[in-house]
Amino acid sequence: MSAIGQPISRFDGRLKVTGAARYTADIPLAEATHAAIVHSTIANGRTVSVDTTAAEKAPGVLAVFTHRNMPRMNPTPKPWSHLHPHGQPYLPLQDDQVHYAGQPIALVVAETRDQATHAGTLIQVEYDARQPVVFGPQTTKDAIDPPQFLWPVASSVGDARTAIVAAAVKIEQTYTTSDRHHNQMEPHVTTAVWDTAGTLTLYETTQHIFGTRELVSIVLGIPQERINVVSHFLGGGFGGKAYVWPHTLLAALAAKMLNRPVRLQLTRAQMYSMVGHQPATIQSVALGADKDGRLTGIRHDSISPTPVFDDYIEYAALVSRSLWAASGGISTNHKVVHVNRNTPTPMRAPHEALGHFALESAMDELAYATGVDPVALRLLNDTPIDPLSGRPFSTRAMRTCLTAGAARFGWDKRTPEPRSMRDGRYLIGQGMAGAIFTHWRWPGKARVTLHDDGSALVEAGTHDLGTGTYTVIQQVAADTLGLAPDKVTVRLGDTRLPASHASIGSATMANAGTSVMLAAKAARDRAIELALTGGNAPFAGAAAEDVLVADGRLVLARKNLDITYAELLARNGLATLVGDGNYNPVEEANGPKAVFSFSAVFGEVRVDPDLGLVRLSRFVGAYDAGRIINPKTARSQAIGGITWGVGQALLEQSETDPVMGRFINRNYSGYLVPTNADIPELDVLFVGEFDEEASPLGVKGLGELTAVSVAPAIANAVYHATGKRVRDLPITLEKLL
Ligand code: MOS
Repeated sequence: MSAIGQPISRFDGRLKVTGAARYTADIPLAEATHAAIVHSTIANGRTVSVDTTAAEKAPGVLAVFTHRNMPRMNPTPKPWSHLHPHGQPYLPLQDDQVHYAGQPIALVVAETRDQATHAGTLIQVEYDARQPVVFGPQTTKDAIDPPQFLWPVASSVGDARTAIVAAAVKIEQTYTTSDRHHNQMEPHVTTAVWDTAGTLTLYETTQHIFGTRELVSIVLGIPQERINVVSHFLGGGFGGKAYVWPHTLLAALAAKMLNRPVRLQLTRAQMYSMVGHQPATIQSVALGADKDGRLTGIRHDSISPTPVFDDYIEYAALVSRSLWAASGGISTNHKVVHVNRNTPTPMRAPHEALGHFALESAMDELAYATGVDPVALRLLNDTPIDPLSGRPFSTRAMRTCLTAGAARFGWDKRTPEPRSMRDGRYLIGQGMAGAIFTHWRWPGKARVTLHDDGSALVEAGTHDLGTGTYTVIQQVAADTLGLAPDKVTVRLGDTRLPASHASIGSATMANAGTSVMLAAKAARDRAIELALTGGNAPFAGAAAEDVLVADGRLVLARKNLDITYAELLARNGLATLVGDGNYNPVEEANGPKAVFSFSAVFGEVRVDPDLGLVRLSRFVGAYDAGRIINPKTARSQAIGGITWGVGQALLEQSETDPVMGRFINRNYSGYLVPTNADIPELDVLFVGEFDEEASPLGVKGLGELTAVSVAPAIANAVYHATGKRVRDLPITLEKLL
């Protein structure tokens, strides 16, 4: 029986609900000390004095660090890309400058966390404060062209401007999205331990153990071989734990100085300034179309904030490069504004979740302007060729997403006029959107060891963010080896395992999963080789391609022979048989096909006409993410992703105080995320097929795809319900009154 395709429950689920799963902060450590960060209350200026006298005398305090006594660090590497580690380039406690509110200005280490926190309150800081620069319409005039990091900053195919000017129907609007924070339930925490041989072990809340090792190596000048990074379980990552943040560097150095393990856990409030966030965007979209709705031109430009010391770009206009065809041309561009804040970072789903709100809202406006049904409009502008690169898509089940999703939703019962559907006093609205999501290809290694008891061990330096990686990797190895899944043990999340890439970009299965498949194949092929030519070879003289694996056995069906792995290893006097997997794909951009995931999503809202309150009442998502390894974990990904999208659409915004320049709502009472009561039954369909170009496993990226285009589908539904077009997220009730 094949394990792939089975809805197997996550085997770490039991560990988590029984408390047996050790999260980073739960790992017990003898002799551990605890650190607390004191952060700046101003957003721009410098510290004139930091008086630590009282703090140093407080109970339990072991050391207090400021920029005056913290050892110097090396600069972070530049430029960065997804294949290199990233850390905020402005490093902590290195000088007296203050570039953002909530910046570390002192670190207290004590015997307990409460002692460290209390001593921190005794530190007296005198500032020379300057007016902070904050992001908003008034600062966009200072937007500049940033240097490239992930993709080219601008793109132009054909002549979009001329095509739009000449178009029979034009839509030109500005759409904005808010600053957002990841708000993982598990706070960021680091425990740094140096052993007597001078090796640093970091127990870290990270989605990128090898990137953390490399960045810490560079910035602290420690050889990579002398650093281990461990991350076994995460209580949410969402992109926020993909890069190295200042507290990790501080913990490592403090542990070295004190020669004791140091645990440093950020407070909930510090999660809004000491780690990344998703920057706001101001996007302008222009569409030109003929009177039947066929697109002739698309222009999409985006502006987002970035720190004064960095050039992080939110690539919101990216989606318009490849989602729909436009006969006359497509142009996109990104600019940034340097402001007083810390470095933003990817947040599920970076780039795409923001860009689709603008593009797919504009498409809905075009549907109304032309009188073409929104689903029909997208079918009309579907394309088998990537408009940006001119390459055919490897697989693109957009038409199936649109038609199967519409059928499941009952789209044909919708009456298109705004305010035409009601349920008693409630206004009912139905909206939809299409989506495209980047497919990433990254190298990864893995090792599979067959044991003489017939079990197998998989080792790979990738991560389980709570997404089910342990389980789906078990399924892949089990099928490749011909073992039952419960015979396969999976070890992840330690740099002492074979190197893998970050668990970001919804790319873990396609890349790390493939490396495991290759390692399992290598182990299986060695076993087959032994069966053909090893000691007392059971299949002597047969051909390797005639040997199958199933139920823990090698099977030579045509001769009705079989042997268990256990027996085979015993005959050869072996305790183990090892296979190595090394997946080293060409970068997607250099392949013959354009590879992306796709979806079409449909939402229904009930709007209270007196209060402006929007409730999502139904949602259908149809996804093309290639082959699905485990429909249960995949569905769980979609539930999480859609919930994220509902938050983006209706609730989430990190507001900045315009005078103080700091994020104001810095806890769960001020920053709203959806709860169970906000989420109705979600219906998800997987319509994709095996995509051999995407990965040898046939899978494409799924997790973040499901967060994309939820917001425009809801915004379009709100327009349908109320006749009000809200172009600014989140759609809070005052915007509907
Ligand atoms: Mo994702 S925001 O690339 O972890």
